[in-house]
Amino acid sequence: MIPVCSLEDLPKGESARVATNPPIAVFHTDDGDLYAIDDTCSHQDASLSDGWLEGCLVECPLHAALFDLRTGRPTCLPARRPVRTHRVTVDDGFVHVHLAAEEGSAA
Ligand code: FES
Repeated sequence: MIPVCSLEDLPKGESARVATNPPIAVFHTDDGDLYAIDDTCSHQDASLSDGWLEGCLVECPLHAALFDLRTGRPTCLPARRPVRTHRVTVDDGFVHVHLAAEEGSAA
């Protein structure tokens, strides 16, 4: 379980990058949902936490592939491979990420 930040430091519409290896991107959607995916785009070396959030999708800042935050799957080219998704919880107002590898549930 990896601590990210307090929920108030991650307002709706914002993202946070966690400097794990590999890095993780955490998103707080406008609907109030929290999602975590691998931060590095599966196409080339771009940070998805720098992308644009649109509902449950994030647009890669480099070549505009869209990834579904719920599944990690790209919904358009040029990305073809999914990124891993990770479970997010909030305890006492603090956001945590549970790595898929730790839970044996890689997407
Ligand atoms: S690096 Fe993300 S779409 Fe190319």
